[in-house]
Amino acid sequence: MLARSPLLEVEDLHVSYGKIRAVQGVSLAVPEAAVVALIGANGAGKTTLLRAISGVVRPRRGAVRFGGEDLVGLPVHQIVRRRVVQVPEGRGMLARMTVLENLRLGAFTRRDEAEPALERAFTLFPRLRERRGQLAGSLSGGEQQMLAIARAMMARPRLLMLDEPSLGLAPLLVREIFRTIPRLTSEGTAVLLVEQNARMALQSAAHAYVLQTGRVVLSGPAAELLAAPEVQRAYLGGV
Ligand SMILES: Nc1ncnc2c1ncn2[C@@H]1O[C@H](COP(=O)(O)OP(=O)(O)OP(=O)(O)O)[C@@H](O)[C@H]1O
Ligand SMILES: [Mg+2]
Repeated sequence: MLARSPLLEVEDLHVSYGKIRAVQGVSLAVPEAAVVALIGANGAGKTTLLRAISGVVRPRRGAVRFGGEDLVGLPVHQIVRRRVVQVPEGRGMLARMTVLENLRLGAFTRRDEAEPALERAFTLFPRLRERRGQLAGSLSGGEQQMLAIARAMMARPRLLMLDEPSLGLAPLLVREIFRTIPRLTSEGTAVLLVEQNARMALQSAAHAYVLQTGRVVLSGPAAELLAAPEVQRAYLGGV
């Protein structure tokens, strides 16, 4: 049987900021409706890799194939139109708009489908339904993170890239955020999950990559990485 080609295929990607080589020859794949984790220390190049995939920074070399098409060089809005959506680090909420207004903005590519999408978002995060009239800036950190994910889901992404969704959240809220991930994939969305919380990420993902100073140093089934001594030592606080 022929193996199906993955939804996202990054091949030998290099990204620099001036002289800083942030990403140095990364290759990775995200299959359709799968969760793939990307872990690594501060400055490893995780955010840069996501930004290169979503077209915010232009790679020096390499390919980003999505559904077989190379995205490198396409403007951001063209990439969003292909339903590749990144939830940035730090959430980027419009603080002076309400929850509902933020969600409606997320649907900008598919205005015709905004209402059913809104219903799905509220089903995913019932807490946002209760708070739909509240200004986004007055939500708690965890609620803002939920809103950021819900807003990204409004565009019905085929690929959702989450950049450290657990950042700054209490463990209970981290679990609540991670609990929604399988629901996203059951709707057909593939997830590329960047995390410092390696344990939660590896428990949620099917496959994972470890990035170190811009290079993939380890990859494999997430369960295998979770058990690997070098991962335990460096990322899971083991001995
Ligand atoms: N706009 C920029 N200009 C110059 N250097 C940058 C820029 N953005 C990132 N870098 C550098 O590129 C490297 C990779 O940064 P990146 O933000 O991708 O790391 P990261 O893995 O996301 O780290 P963190 O876990 O801290 O978010 C770092 O050395 C960083 O200082
Ligand atoms: Mg980052």
